[in-house]
Amino acid sequence: MIIENPNDILVLVNKKRRLKEDFIPNQLEAISLAYSNQEKYLIHEARIAFEKLSEDAKKEGYSIIAVSAYRNYSYQEELYASYVKEKGEDYASKCSAMPGHSEHQTGLSLDVMGSNKDYNEFEQSKEFTWMKNHAHEYGFILRYPKGKEKITGFKYEPWHYRYVGIEHATYIFQNHLTLEEYLQKKEIH
Ligand code: DAL
Ligand code: ZN
Repeated sequence: MIIENPNDILVLVNKKRRLKEDFIPNQLEAISLAYSNQEKYLIHEARIAFEKLSEDAKKEGYSIIAVSAYRNYSYQEELYASYVKEKGEDYASKCSAMPGHSEHQTGLSLDVMGSNKDYNEFEQSKEFTWMKNHAHEYGFILRYPKGKEKITGFKYEPWHYRYVGIEHATYIFQNHLTLEEYLQKKEIH
């Protein structure tokens, strides 16, 4: 199914819902290199929120750095293909989205690394604990939580955060929901 509201802050991108190949979000802005390992882009609101998060964390002695943020369709296509080549289709489908199906294409998502400098090992860093407790205060949610693989379609990803704004993020955090569950609940109530 093709997504009709790709610039909505609550846009749901997953295995069932895809973005058009030529979709590029409005207002992509580069994250300051103080909080990013290379030039990486998020939409304006998410960039401001992430920079504040990373700055506040830094003041408390934590290093939270963006290692991936906006990814266009063709880059996602390459990424997915390289996972398939290395690990096979089955494994690839659990940890990488197919092109058009990645929320990295919305400019609302990012992957981070902590002071151990490896996003794959983010869960083992002290920064993960900080993010677990504080990401929602800046509008971010842990998008692929442990134990919710059947709902999200992806393996647990401690490093991947999605911007939804403080109000939605706080509700999702307090109620241990995924974005899928939250949106379903909102439709019902
Ligand atoms: N790793 C996430 C699911 C993505 O490729 O968008
Ligand atoms: Zn990610």
